[in-house]
Amino acid sequence: MAIRNIREYGDEVLTKKCKEVTEMTPRIKDLIEDMLETMYEANGVGLAAPQVGILKRIVVIDVTGEDPYVLINPRIIATDGEQTGQEGCLSVPGKCGIVTRPNYVKAEALDINMKPFTLEGEELLARAICHELDHLDGHIYVEKVEGDLMDTVMEEDEEE
Ligand code: NI
Repeated sequence: MAIRNIREYGDEVLTKKCKEVTEMTPRIKDLIEDMLETMYEANGVGLAAPQVGILKRIVVIDVTGEDPYVLINPRIIATDGEQTGQEGCLSVPGKCGIVTRPNYVKAEALDINMKPFTLEGEELLARAICHELDHLDGHIYVEKVEGDLMDTVMEEDEEE
C-alpha cells in the first residue's frame, strides 16, 4: 500500500467525468487500498479516485474511522429530507463551507468483489456519499457553498 498524492482544487483532473469500472483487476485493488490509506492518513471521511488522479468511478468512505465502505460505480437511488452544515474536502485543504444536502441517502454500488450492494446513511454518512459521488462527475463542494468559503479553525494541539 502507498499514500497517493491528493490533487488540489484547480487541478483539471477534478473537473472530469469518471469512467465506470468494468472489471476488478489487481491494479484497481491496489488503487482502492491506497485510497483507504491516503484517506486515513489525511484524516478524511471520504476520498474519490479522481482526487488521486484516477478517472474511475470509485469512492471510499469512513465516517467513524472503523467502518470503511468501498463504492464502485455508485449511484444514488433515494434521498429524503435536508441538512445544512459545514463541509470540507481533502482537495481544498484548510477550507470549509456551508452546504445543504439530503439528510438521508440510499446508494447502490458494487463492492470490491464487483457484487452489488446498497448503502443507506443519514447525516454525516449521507453528506459524505453525496460529496464523494459529486467528485465522480467532476463537481466539488465549493460550487454548492452558501456564502463564502471559510478557513478551518485549527484544533488546539495542547491543553493546559
Ligand atoms: Ni472532496
